Amino acid sequence: MKSIYLAPMEGVTTHIYRRIFNKYYKGVSKFFTPFLSPNQTKSFQMKELEEIDAEKNAGMVTVPQLLCANAEHFVWACREVAERGYHEVNFNLGCPSNTVVTKKKGSGFLYYPDELDAFFEAVFEGVKDLGVEVSVKTRLGKHDPKEFMRILEVYNRYPIKELTVHPRIQKDFYKGDIRKEWLDYAYENSKNPLCINGDICLTEDVERNSEIYPNAVALMMGRGLIARPYLFTDGDVLKDKETFKAFNNELLEAYCERMSGDFSILCKLKELWYYMLPALDVSPDMEKRLKKTSKIAEYKILLNEIIACKE
Ligand SMILES: Cc1cc2nc3c(=O)[nH]c(=O)nc-3n(C[C@H](O)[C@H](O)[C@H](O)COP(=O)(O)O)c2cc1C
Repeated sequence: MKSIYLAPMEGVTTHIYRRIFNKYYKGVSKFFTPFLSPNQTKSFQMKELEEIDAEKNAGMVTVPQLLCANAEHFVWACREVAERGYHEVNFNLGCPSNTVVTKKKGSGFLYYPDELDAFFEAVFEGVKDLGVEVSVKTRLGKHDPKEFMRILEVYNRYPIKELTVHPRIQKDFYKGDIRKEWLDYAYENSKNPLCINGDICLTEDVERNSEIYPNAVALMMGRGLIARPYLFTDGDVLKDKETFKAFNNELLEAYCERMSGDFSILCKLKELWYYMLPALDVSPDMEKRLKKTSKIAEYKILLNEIIACKE
């Protein structure tokens, strides 16, 4: 089977989630932090420092991800993470959020391929003695997937460790079918090793993509693996309910330790259930109760009931 990476998901794949996932479940060979935003202050926020804290990432391969459009700030961040022992940095060229895109960051940067080229020139020069390699996570473009032809030309000029392609454009956000023909284009034309991302949710999807793209180095899964963290551990059913229960209890405990107030803790956990619930045979009534609950004591009771459901 191809290597599986857990996609970075802001607010979801926090260091807490990654550590607990890695403790209970198998199958993921590389984890990514949600994006960190280096800027002119040349300092990371506390929350960002926690994401790259060595102890919090012990025992797994973690790649810090950067969202930035300034080469000097990017290289500064590469040095910081290299000093903390990381060997790879991932560059976010996919974020579709309007607040990011209007700053020419994330998928917004893709609309300026000449500037992107100059950025890479400076970045690859700047990181050459740092001991970190740069990988890229990209969409196809901003308005039109044809933009990808020029963008890939730029990528092909640089020794990108791995190019992860999420075959959608900015305005697609996360909806609609992936643009498979452009994934094929990337597969045929990328000079750098390719990682495939987008709507890979079940083992069948993993098998199909492995067959279609035999030379891809890895498959990156986001929502599908959050929905079924047990996917590569138990197969397609929730055989090991005790593990699933322990996993969810530990997430609850960890977020209770770190955050305060039932409401904000439950918001965090409900975000995970937004993905996990549809994979389970849960009654609409139970779903409603979970959505409505604002008390951790009640959540604990519901958790037991949900876990008793079948996939
Ligand atoms: C809530 C959410 C947060 C995300 N945060 C990030 C992020 O911080 N960095 C990034 O590169 N992609 C981010 N993504 C995109 C995912 O990494 C992934 O590319 C996308 O979900 C498509 O893969 P999937 O179909 O397997 O989920 C996010 C996606 C979602 C839904």
